[in-house]
Amino acid sequence: MVITIDGPAGTGKSTVSRAVAERLGFNFLDTGAMYRAIGLAALRRQVSLQSPRELAFVADHCRVEFDWSKSPPGVLLNGEPVGHLLRAMEATDAAKYVAQVPAIRAKLVEEQRRIGREHGNLVTEGRDQGSVVFPDAAYKFYLTASPEERAHRRARELRARGEIVDEKEILRQIMDRDERDRSRLVGPLAIPDGADVVDTTSLSMDQVVERIVSRIEVGAGKREARSQT
Ligand code: DC
Repeated sequence: MVITIDGPAGTGKSTVSRAVAERLGFNFLDTGAMYRAIGLAALRRQVSLQSPRELAFVADHCRVEFDWSKSPPGVLLNGEPVGHLLRAMEATDAAKYVAQVPAIRAKLVEEQRRIGREHGNLVTEGRDQGSVVFPDAAYKFYLTASPEERAHRRARELRARGEIVDEKEILRQIMDRDERDRSRLVGPLAIPDGADVVDTTSLSMDQVVERIVSRIEVGAGKREARSQT
């Protein structure tokens, strides 16, 4: 069974998806990590982030894999564990360029479907999981939150790390990123057909997880009842 969780940055998607996977005993696929790992490879090779051709070359010549023995799965770039490097500003920025290259998206979509086939029960998180990669997923969720709340969460996170932040600037970056994600020609951020939209603006992470898990359990219960009649 595949469960997709999509939505923009700052909705708590990663934390929620990981917790849902844990609660259900499913594997967890962080598709953003794949774009980030290729971004890191591009930075290391010092190619131009503005050049789709050079980025596609890098993607064709690096190996991004997951170590499924770890929870959450470790991310390997050419065999080297790089999970701890992927959330840095540089990799985050490079991933934005990588995500706009159609040839790279096509390759990663294929790879994500292969993982779906091989790993059976999967919670997969991203921007296009329910719309493009797994349109027939058993359950699809789309998380949203107001841009102001998302900026606030991000500012809180950075302050907790001891950084000085300008929340207005963060809000501007979030709105910018949303616009770019939505207007992308391939795999744009969109609410997938049939997805359950969960507005997380005034919910805690635990409440969001609870809501998603209970919808899956209710759905599974209905399916069981149908199969017994
Ligand atoms: O979810 P994230 O912040 O880790 O994603 C990193 C980047 O990759 C971000 O620019 C959005 C992009 N992305 C995407 O285009 N499609 C996905 N399925 C996952 C991430």
